[in-house]
Amino acid sequence: MNSEALLARAPTADAIEQPPAAPPCGPDSAEVGVGVEVRAEVGVGVDVAEAEDFLGLLHAEHPDQPLTVRQRMHQVRAEVADTGSYAHTADELAFGARVAWRNSSRCIGRLYWQSLRVLDRRDATTPREIHRHLCEHLRQATNGGRIRPTISVFAPDRPGRPAPRLWNDQLIRYAGYRGDDGRTVGDPAHLDLTEAVRRLGWQAPGGPFDVLPLVVDAPGHEPQLFDVPGDLVLEVALSHPERPEFAALGLRWHAVPAISNMRLRIGGVDYPLAPFNGWYMGTEIGARNLVDSDRYDLLPAIARHLGLDTGSEATLWRDRALVEVNVAVLHSFRRAGVRVSDHHTESRRFLAHLAKEERQGRLVPADWSWIVPPVSGSLTPVFHRYYDEADQRPNFYPDEARSRCPYGH
Ligand code: ARG
Repeated sequence: MNSEALLARAPTADAIEQPPAAPPCGPDSAEVGVGVEVRAEVGVGVDVAEAEDFLGLLHAEHPDQPLTVRQRMHQVRAEVADTGSYAHTADELAFGARVAWRNSSRCIGRLYWQSLRVLDRRDATTPREIHRHLCEHLRQATNGGRIRPTISVFAPDRPGRPAPRLWNDQLIRYAGYRGDDGRTVGDPAHLDLTEAVRRLGWQAPGGPFDVLPLVVDAPGHEPQLFDVPGDLVLEVALSHPERPEFAALGLRWHAVPAISNMRLRIGGVDYPLAPFNGWYMGTEIGARNLVDSDRYDLLPAIARHLGLDTGSEATLWRDRALVEVNVAVLHSFRRAGVRVSDHHTESRRFLAHLAKEERQGRLVPADWSWIVPPVSGSLTPVFHRYYDEADQRPNFYPDEARSRCPYGH
């Protein structure tokens, strides 16, 4: 089958049920700063109680600090009184970023939270510098396929001085195009961003897997477009171990999921630009990105390709096609030497993480509907239990304040 035809999808009216797209249980922007002094000249300052909670946590887990917790709290209170905010030390930043991952209740891959590489980019101000660091992030994180969990932390929001932001939800994403006939080509999740970058002058190739340019939105500068250099975008072409024809579908996915639209909050300080990545669990691609009816929606085409009887739901053609796409994703990534995990292994690792954290006396907040894999849920041990749900900080939150971003996510 011709892949162009396959990847141009007809509009669908019905969006299927998905893990909730709503923000996690973080505060809304209106709540941030409640109860703190309003400083007329600098705006609303950092919540000192949250800063103190964070410093208390750091000193409890790492007592070997240069200052006592009382000395450091004294410094921080004085700096907040003076400027409305305070600067984290490099160690505070690294610990805060790692604990934000540890507290991310939707993430199944938290066993390795302590190994997160933290790149301190707080000094970068111009769009060009920021883009250079984003490229360096991709280079270090991709690591030729041996993907390393990495976060780059740019300047925080400060009273009267907003932080830089990115319009993109991830550093690597595929464009989506609305055709005149109502069909879409590419990733329908990015129709609006694609429109927006075209208005900024991006020359769209119009294919099913075009990597979108980045839009850096830094204070004092117009939003600026940058291409992601092709040699920094590792991609895997999908093939199936037993069905050589599968490769002819022309499917592919990028190796590194690097989320760039979540605000990292550490000790009352917000870092809206703090892109972070892990490696993929196969189902994210094989059961969601390529399959959701409001994404690439490929199951009908794949079922036809596999010769399945799509005449009745009761043949379970969807389920059978779904398994084969997931086999293809895991097989192709492994063959290409790109780190990926399967949902059985990752589920077991998550329970190992839970047990390990509990031995440390720590609560592991988790959201069942995100932790349970979208394929074969009940075959994985994470299905058969409940979890604590708590909003523990530091954490990552949706960023509500991308004011100049012309589309809503
Ligand atoms: N599910 C998202 C995607 O498919 C990525 C989310 C983060 N995933 C990860 N393995 N760190 O692009």
